[in-house]
Formats: sequence, structure tokens, C-alpha cells
Amino acid sequence: MSKVSVLFVCLGNICRSPTAHAVFRKMVQDQGLDKVIDIDSAGTAAYHVGKHPDVRSMETARNRGIEMLDLRARKVDFGDFYVYDYILAMDEENYHNLLELALPEHRDKVQMFLDYTQEFPESEVPDPYYGGAQGFEHVFDLVESASEGLLEHIKKTHLS
Ligand code: 4NP
Repeated sequence: MSKVSVLFVCLGNICRSPTAHAVFRKMVQDQGLDKVIDIDSAGTAAYHVGKHPDVRSMETARNRGIEMLDLRARKVDFGDFYVYDYILAMDEENYHNLLELALPEHRDKVQMFLDYTQEFPESEVPDPYYGGAQGFEHVFDLVESASEGLLEHIKKTHLS
């Protein structure tokens, strides 16, 4: 069975993409697929490199049974475009920044994460950083739904 690798990308890599990383990781582990699906997350900006996720993201995730304290922020690297099969942007700005960094032959790997769910009207996971707790709950709901869709897609496309 060939491996599949997924990189979640937002701006700071402390709120949205680590939430996606941790939620998707738990789903993959629960289905016994952690040996075949590699997961990481990164930010397009370097402001928070080396930091653990935002405490509000960790709190929201912990209340729903997801642990993310082990994650540390890093910046997207040119090598990521060679390593990862799926490079999933949280919003349009992340998406366009990734496309600018990518070589033409890697651009197909860059997608909008919410393309993997039809459950919500949004096409972007909104930046919750300057908002209140409800924004973090909404991020979690969007991420959970798109993670389910992504996992089904990967199973159908690569693992069946
Ligand atoms: P994220 O959220 O991109 O979901 O990690 C943000 C984190 C930090 C900042 C902006 C967004 N910031 O401006 O520092």
C-alpha cells in the first residue's frame, strides 16, 4: 500500500492548521491508518515558529476529546511541495501564497481544505485569532467536517 501525505496550512500555524492536524490525526488513528497517512501542518508566516498552538484552540479541541499540545508551529518550506501529496489551505490568502511558492508541477497539490465538505456554506476556514471563543468553536466544526470528507476521499482514491 503506498503512503499518502497531507499538509494543512494557515497563516500562523497556531490556530486553524494545527486544529486540522490534530482532528484529522485522531480520525486517521481511530481507523488504524496512521501507518499509511502522514500528516503535518505549517504556516505561511513565521511569527509563531516553535510555539505550541493557541491556548484557545487547544481548549476547544480538548473539550471535544482532541489533544494538540505536542504540536509546534513551523513555516511552510519549499521542500514541502515535494514531500506532500495534499497541501490544504484554510483560506484564499493561504491558497494564493502557496501557489506563488509552488513550482508549476506542484500546483495541483494545493487545494482549499473546505472543498472536502458540502455541509457548510463557507469556502474558507475564517481566521479566529482576533475574535472570541465562538470563532474557535466554528473553526473546529468546519475542520471536523472537512476532515471527514478528506479521509473518505483518500480512502476511496488511494486505499481501496
Ligand atoms: P492561524 O491564526 O493562521 O489560524 O494560526 C493566526 C494566528 C496568528 C496570527 C494571525 C492568524 N497573527 O497575526 O499573529
